[in-house]
Parts: sequence; C-alpha cells; structure tokens
Amino acid sequence: MILTHCAACAAPLGLALGKKCGRCSTRYCGPACQEQHWKEGGHDQLCKLIKKAGGAEQYNANTKYTEAVSVAAEACAEDTKGQTCYICTQALHWKTKEGLVRMCACRGTAGFAHVSCLAEQAKILVDDAEERNLDYEIRDSRWARWTACGLCEQEYHGVVLCALGWACWKTYVSRPEDSNTIRTCAIGVLAHGLGDAGRHEERLQIQQTQFSTQMRLGLSEQELLATRCNIAVCLEELGRDEEALALRRECYATSKRLNVANPGDLYIDVLNLSKSLLDTHRHTEARSFLREQLPKARRALGPADDTLFKLRWNYALSLCDTGASREDVLEATTLLEELSSTAQRVYGPSNPVAAGVKRDLAHARRKLASSTDS
Ligand SMILES: *[C@@H]1O[C@H](CO)[C@@H](O)[C@H](O)[C@H]1NC(C)=O
Ligand SMILES: [Zn+2]
Ligand SMILES: [Zn+2]
Ligand SMILES: [Zn+2]
Ligand SMILES: [Zn+2]
Repeated sequence: MILTHCAACAAPLGLALGKKCGRCSTRYCGPACQEQHWKEGGHDQLCKLIKKAGGAEQYNANTKYTEAVSVAAEACAEDTKGQTCYICTQALHWKTKEGLVRMCACRGTAGFAHVSCLAEQAKILVDDAEERNLDYEIRDSRWARWTACGLCEQEYHGVVLCALGWACWKTYVSRPEDSNTIRTCAIGVLAHGLGDAGRHEERLQIQQTQFSTQMRLGLSEQELLATRCNIAVCLEELGRDEEALALRRECYATSKRLNVANPGDLYIDVLNLSKSLLDTHRHTEARSFLREQLPKARRALGPADDTLFKLRWNYALSLCDTGASREDVLEATTLLEELSSTAQRVYGPSNPVAAGVKRDLAHARRKLASSTDS
C-alpha cells in the first residue's frame, strides 16, 4: 500500500486508519472529507472508474504510470526522433500512442523502445520463471529486466527508470501483501526509480510505509535494516541531515549487535555514520569514532580496500574543522597527500573520487599555509 493519506485533505492515515469508500476503497480521514470529495472533489465521477480499475491503489499506480511514461518519452523525444521500437517495430505504440525512450548504454540505432513494450517483456519473462519455478539465479536475471536494458544490460536511469518503476508497481500491486516477495521487490524497483529521477519526497513516503508494513509482517531486524538505510539516504537527499544522522546511528548499532557475517557491510555503516557526523558538523565526534574504527577496519578489510580508503578520507576531513589545531591540519594534509596519490593511481585522475581527494588536499594545504602566517 502506498496511498497513506486522506484523498481529500491529505492528512496522514498510516496503514489502517480512516474510512474507505465502500465501492472503490479510496481512503478518507472521516465522513466529512468523504462527503466533500464526493460532492465537490469529483469523486462522484471517478468512483466507478477507480472500482473498475481494481481499486484505489491500482488506479493510482495506473495514473502515475501514465504520467511517468509521458515524462520519460518527452525527455527522450530529441534522441528518439525518427526511430522505432525494437520490440514492436513501431514509432508510436499502437494502443497507447506513447513515444519512445532510451536511457541506457545502447548507441546508434539500437535500444529504442516503448516503456509499455519493455514492461510487457519483463512481465512475460518473470511470469514464465514463476510458472516454471526456475532457479533463483534465472529468476533474478529475469527480474533485472525491470531495471536494465535487455540489449546492453546496463541499468536505465532517471525518468526512464522511474517510469519502469511505476510499470513494475502497477503490474504487481494487486498481489497479496503478506510477505509476498514479488510485491516487495516491486516497491523496491519503484523506490529506486523515484530516487534516480530525483523524486525523493515520494520515495521517502513509500519507504516509510514499506517500513511500517515490514514491521507489521514481523520481518527480521536484518531485513528492516536495509529499509532503514534507504530511508536515511532519502533524508540526506532532502537535506534532513539531523534525522538521517539519528538513523545512521541506529543502523550502525544494529549491524554491530547482529554481528553481520560480512565485515564489509558493517564498515559501510561505519562509513555512512562518519559521513553523517561530518555533514552535521560533529567533527570531534567523527574524529574519535574513526580513530577507534580505523585499525579494526584495516584488519578486517585489508589495506587496499575501497571502504577503508573512504574511511581514511573522512578521518582526514574530521581533522580539518574550523577550530582544528595546526597539528591536526598537518596530519590531515599528510594523509590526504597519501590518499591523493593512491587515488590517482587506482582510480585515474579524472575519477570523481580522485578529483574529490585532490580538492580536499588543496583546501587543507591552504588552511595549513594560513595557520603558519598567523
Ligand atoms: C551508504 O551511503 C550510500 C550513499 O548515500 C548509499 O548509497 C548506501 O546505500 C548506504 N549504505 C548503507 C548500508 O547504509
Ligand atoms: Zn481528510
Ligand atoms: Zn469511491
Ligand atoms: Zn514498442
Ligand atoms: Zn541498452
């Protein structure tokens, strides 16, 4: 369920509160909103249509899907001019009249398609794998067709990924909710697409609802953890850094307590928490936290590990606060020099990581020079 607000006044209703329209299941905070929506909000016109579509959730998914497809086709209009769909061979879709999209790694005349055709293909492949009860790996690779191009195998991005997200959700929304994995995966695809298209408010709302649903279904802490991490990412994207920090602290504490099998996962949580501490200007806390974590991370991950590299980078940043002593800035500069030359070698000079470290090194050097002058 992703409709968690009153259809008339938008008051939050959670998963179960409110009053449903007896015909179409549209939810309201109470009889007053329901009556007003019927008389003035146009629900008297829509109710039948919504019921016919399969209820409020399905109708919402269909509507959002249609909107998202036209946004995607519009964004691709320039690129797709004069081309045809590699699936149905037409320029305009015979039934929906939608335009073409392409946002993957395909080049030349390859890879143009209608979102509807891509969605239909993905659905057929997944249905087939379900019906024949194929191996997990095959099912997984078929499921990937909801997010990746079947020709170049690269993930779609931006508004195209978002349109496929709504397509996926509209396809599986009517599956039963009880720990049904395909429905959960479909919400995941939608959330991912919304995030990639920069629609973080919508994504956050969906993920918070997902979290409540998972709690109610009694999912394991490990499974809940993944959803909480996603919520933290949304909050960061929305600039809600203090709330994100609180979640990062909880995620780290939970990972540590659960003793996750793969140490790499734990140190991603350490990394993300340290980043949150820096984002909220808690440099002193970040510094002592990382001082404690770095030796353990080095033992667990090995000296050449990517996460270790980023932890050390954050440690250097924690030494460069506005109130930092000259010694701290000197330590940071030395460390950033080492990291910068490693990054140039490992990632190449034009890589964003290498460029980022270089920028921070320049900043630390300026800071060091000005502290010598004074
Ligand atoms: C850590 O942060 C990155 C960047 O925000 C995010 O993509 C990733 O999912 C996070 N991982 C965890 C486990 O929180
Ligand atoms: Zn209301
Ligand atoms: Zn109704
Ligand atoms: Zn087509
Ligand atoms: Zn492609």
